[in-house]
Amino acid sequence: MAGVRTSIHGEWSSKLAFVLAATGSAVGLGNIWKFPYVAGQNGGGAFVLIYVACVAIIGVPIMMAEVMLGRRGRQSPINTMRTLAAEEGRSPRWGLLGWMGVLAGFLILSFYSVIAGWALAYVFRTAAGLFDGATADFTAQVFSNLISDPEKLIAWHTLFLIMTMVVVARGVAAGLETAVRFLMPGLFVLLLLLVGYAMAEGQFVHGLQFLFAPDFGKVTPEVILMAMGQAFFSLSLGMGAIMIYGSYLPHDASIARTSIAVASADTLVALIAGLAIFPVVFEYGLQPNAGPGLIFQTLPIAFGQMPGGAFFGTLFFILLVFAAWTSAISLVEPAVAWLVENRGHTRVYAAVVCGMLTWFVGLGTVFSFNLWSDYRLFGRTFFDLLDYLTSNIMLPIGGLLIAIFAGWLMKERSVKEELKMDDSLGYRLWRFLVRYITPVGVGLVFLNVIEVI
Ligand code: PFF
Repeated sequence: MAGVRTSIHGEWSSKLAFVLAATGSAVGLGNIWKFPYVAGQNGGGAFVLIYVACVAIIGVPIMMAEVMLGRRGRQSPINTMRTLAAEEGRSPRWGLLGWMGVLAGFLILSFYSVIAGWALAYVFRTAAGLFDGATADFTAQVFSNLISDPEKLIAWHTLFLIMTMVVVARGVAAGLETAVRFLMPGLFVLLLLLVGYAMAEGQFVHGLQFLFAPDFGKVTPEVILMAMGQAFFSLSLGMGAIMIYGSYLPHDASIARTSIAVASADTLVALIAGLAIFPVVFEYGLQPNAGPGLIFQTLPIAFGQMPGGAFFGTLFFILLVFAAWTSAISLVEPAVAWLVENRGHTRVYAAVVCGMLTWFVGLGTVFSFNLWSDYRLFGRTFFDLLDYLTSNIMLPIGGLLIAIFAGWLMKERSVKEELKMDDSLGYRLWRFLVRYITPVGVGLVFLNVIEVI
């Protein structure tokens, strides 16, 4: 029976361990690197508002559904979906949802690791005092030197992937808990310090206005799609990462409360990162729509000007690497768990195979910043294309299918048994959101964009 199934990969030591691990997955480059530059490219305020709305009415219900499916299935997302589909009398083809997640995880990790490599490189550049007294021109130059050198990017990408695969090979629970318990609060404190700097030295009010005063004239279907994609990416939804973490969740933990805690922490970190960055952007006459290099060109100026900046800067990039690390692990865990369950491989072997594949695809992202920077496919570089395809298409489709399965295809009795919320108001709200609002919302966004194309 579903109630007594256990995972062969182990279980979190407590409910808190799950919250920490899921927060570790959610909080990463998506909050600190991606959120500010995507908000900057999409006009600020209105985008941010839509993003927060997507987190609340689409993200949280889907997160609850993913955790619920994971805990009930207790296996890799592919096998969880197959097992649950069989139990609920549905087609075994639901396993394909797990496969799509595995593919999305590979594609995301392939570029995620390259960007995390930038953060690694910046640990050393900051520690060496390179940015002391730096101007905006200088930080732009340092960034462009880094990304125009494929050899350097490959070296950092390789190092980051090795770090990730070592943890995955040893099993997710060992190490991850401690890393998240101490390092996440550290990252948070440093972000607050940066906000303090931005208040004192930057154009704070301008930054606030940019982030929080919505200009609805700037809203297009594309902006809505980007905001929704960012919500999925930032919350790690739609590809089975949260599902597999849910599969290690003890039976007595409240799925609703833990999901809300994770989503709130994730959103708070993104907003605070925005508050740290935009005042500096405006103070130094930088462009909010500078793209993927935004934080790498902006924050070093702040570190270069503030007292003790080399120290705080180094610490910041170290913590950013940790945040990226704990997210990267969750991107391959579904694939590794499947290789262990179905092919009988050891975790070590599975991690090596996944690592090599990801490394290879990652070269495309490395080259899209230098050798291939002029090539465009559908008007985008290889990196942009991967990012767009995963965040804006694959994750929302994954989320949509999860919502349909949990809201429409599972027997309500099974859902209730797993969520343990009885017939409370919270349960009814969740059910309403997951059955109607989520599918209709995601569907409408897609339809709108297709119409525009
Ligand atoms: N949520 C991570 C971030 O914001 O950096 C990225 C991510 C991790 C996306 C795991 C998807 C995922 F399954």
